[in-house]
Amino acid sequence: MSLLDVRSAFDLPDDVAYLNCAYMGPVPFDAIEAGRRAVARKGRPWTVAVEDFFEPVEELRGLLAGLLHADVEGVAITPSVSYGLATAARNLPLAPDAAVVVLEGQFPSDVYCWRELATRSGGSVHTVAAPSDGDWTAAALADLDRLGERAGVVSVPPCHWADGSPLDLAAVGAACRRVGAAFVVDSTQWLGAAPFDVGAIGADVVAGATYKWLVGPYSLGFVWMAPHLRDGVPIEHNWIGRAGSDDFASLVGYADGYRPGARRYDMGEVSNFLLLPVAIASLRLLTSWGAGAISGHARVLTDRIAEGAAGLGFGVAPPAGRSPHLMGVRLQGTGLDPSALAATLAGDDVHVSVRGDSVRVSAHAYNTVADVDRLLASLASARAAAR
Ligand SMILES: Cc1ncc(COP(=O)(O)O)c(C=O)c1O
Repeated sequence: MSLLDVRSAFDLPDDVAYLNCAYMGPVPFDAIEAGRRAVARKGRPWTVAVEDFFEPVEELRGLLAGLLHADVEGVAITPSVSYGLATAARNLPLAPDAAVVVLEGQFPSDVYCWRELATRSGGSVHTVAAPSDGDWTAAALADLDRLGERAGVVSVPPCHWADGSPLDLAAVGAACRRVGAAFVVDSTQWLGAAPFDVGAIGADVVAGATYKWLVGPYSLGFVWMAPHLRDGVPIEHNWIGRAGSDDFASLVGYADGYRPGARRYDMGEVSNFLLLPVAIASLRLLTSWGAGAISGHARVLTDRIAEGAAGLGFGVAPPAGRSPHLMGVRLQGTGLDPSALAATLAGDDVHVSVRGDSVRVSAHAYNTVADVDRLLASLASARAAAR
């Protein structure tokens, strides 16, 4: 597998090892420039035409659909994952004795919306306990077997956000169809770093944010809704999602109908003149590099991190239990304190996150072998100092 050579597309100095995309992705130079132009344009509002309310939104929708391997009609633009999941929860029925299935320690935006749905409908939230062998797929499938038709919604990610342990979404999706549960996926910690295919996993809803692996802006995300969920009720009632909203002279005709597909779920002020150009520039670059090439690149770096960290006495998951781009380096048995270690690494300009008693390391297209070696050298000296 040959490595990508795209670091120069980002404002990343050679002596900074930024291995923390799971926290926040860097926007590339193209996006920084697009953002500058976008702000300047807002200073000259007479240059903003009616089509500028719609065309960039459609380009963004198309780019997201391409990365999701989904149809463009199903993509709605949101400000956050929680907004997308609130839209899903608003439109997925839950019977009084039914459960929403989530994973232990899942990101809060993937839990609060379901707690609220369960309270509203008299159902419950069922949490899949963290498996001791790291195999979330087997754990989720076993719980789904036990719950059977009482599983109303299953809401899981492609990998756990805390340490990257992967789930086989095709297998979970098939189990959802067997028991008749709606299948909801939060793609935030995956899309942009590795291939994703809505059709292959059979999802009903896929939500995500652009500010991590999609190297886009904060406060912008998406939700893809399956065809059978496209005639539901949005969580807000803005003018631009209504039929004929591009006819500015007739807006107070108050249309009952919506624009086609999942556009009814677009957030208010979806045309966001400052953020959309930034996201579009980022997604164009990711698309040109290709998800397969990015995940192959990340996989080489992640394997090198795993081997190096294991050699230093840290705990790492076996290859089958690792995602291409995101992994936890466990500190048990090393005598190192996670927060103190993160501070030491930051002092060496190695940037990672601490989650529980693991250091979470993220590798994306812009990372290099030199970044990995800088991380391993810093881990080695922290380990030596603790002995
Ligand atoms: C898995 C996952 N989903 C969602 C988010 C962000 O959620 P929201 O857009 O609701 O702030 C994060 C942020 O860390 C995350 O890790």
